[in-house]
Amino acid sequence: MLTLVTGATGEVGRRFVPRLLARAAGESARPGDQVRVLVRDEARADRLADLGAQVVVGDLRDAETLGKALAGADSVVNVAAAFRGVPDEEAWAVNRDAALELGHAAVVSGVRRFVQVSTNLVYGTGRGRPHTETDPTVPGGLLWGAYPESKAEAERGLLALEDLDVRVGRLAFVYGDGDAHLAQAMRWAGNWAATQRLQMVHHADVAQGLLRLLYASGADGRIYNIADDAPVMTVELHWLNGLDVPEELQGREDADPWLGIVSTERIRRELGFRPLYPSVWTARDAGVL
Ligand SMILES: NC(=O)c1ccc[n+]([C@@H]2O[C@H](COP(=O)([O-])OP(=O)(O)OC[C@H]3O[C@@H](n4cnc5c(N)ncnc54)[C@H](OP(=O)(O)O)[C@@H]3O)[C@@H](O)[C@H]2O)c1
Repeated sequence: MLTLVTGATGEVGRRFVPRLLARAAGESARPGDQVRVLVRDEARADRLADLGAQVVVGDLRDAETLGKALAGADSVVNVAAAFRGVPDEEAWAVNRDAALELGHAAVVSGVRRFVQVSTNLVYGTGRGRPHTETDPTVPGGLLWGAYPESKAEAERGLLALEDLDVRVGRLAFVYGDGDAHLAQAMRWAGNWAATQRLQMVHHADVAQGLLRLLYASGADGRIYNIADDAPVMTVELHWLNGLDVPEELQGREDADPWLGIVSTERIRRELGFRPLYPSVWTARDAGVL
């Protein structure tokens, strides 16, 4: 199986691809397992090439690039997204339009399986309990905007494609393996109430989840939350980042205690997912932050 991974030089992609390559070369490999990455900057893919990945250079918004990247591919993991400091138009163009073009081009190329990487932010506002995959999107909440909206539309469009086995993985806040994301979270979590919670997932468990989505049989059209078991509070985010907890945190109201909190019951039951790092504290103790 030749798997194309987009977004391979991003925070998730560059930690996921080596794990996918290890699987493709490991005991459970199937004959012909190979990995191809689509990147915008070839030099930044050197490490992935050294590990055995085929490299295609280009932009996801370019039809010719899609054709080259998909030639001979059996499956796709669409990790790419534009959401870190980009204008809304770019978020829509990459996260929705290019993802859908990639899906259409995948059908034409004879790709059989398509894993779409999405976000738990597509749920929008909280519903007074953990979100499950059948919950419809309710726009709004602290982190709503072009990013979750474009990802939600991409999910819907891809799942509606005929002749393509699409699976969607909705990631919680990703951290670990040297990712600076945990520190960056303070840009917005620094304004949260002391008790507001953030659900996370370690990169190792992102990879575990995506690999399960990629290789499972009978998961056609299924959506899976990929997250750990123990969301942490704003106070803990300060501790984890070695910061003092400002007193004003205590006076703030927790606008939505269920923002981004998801159930992982489905992926546990159907795909056997068990987080290697059930909480960020476990990961901290294991030295893998
Ligand atoms: N990180 C999280 O906490 C989190 C949480 C939930 C969901 N997710 C999802 O996980 C996925 C990866 O996120 P990330 O944190 O790794 O983001 P990231 O670090 O910003 O990486 C995004 C990747 O997409 C690529 N990309 C963006 N625009 C592109 C374009 N026009 N053509 C080709 N490639 C393009 C980037 O290429 P360059 O490397 O060239 O910039 C980069 O490799 C996304 O789908 C995101 O929605 C992430």
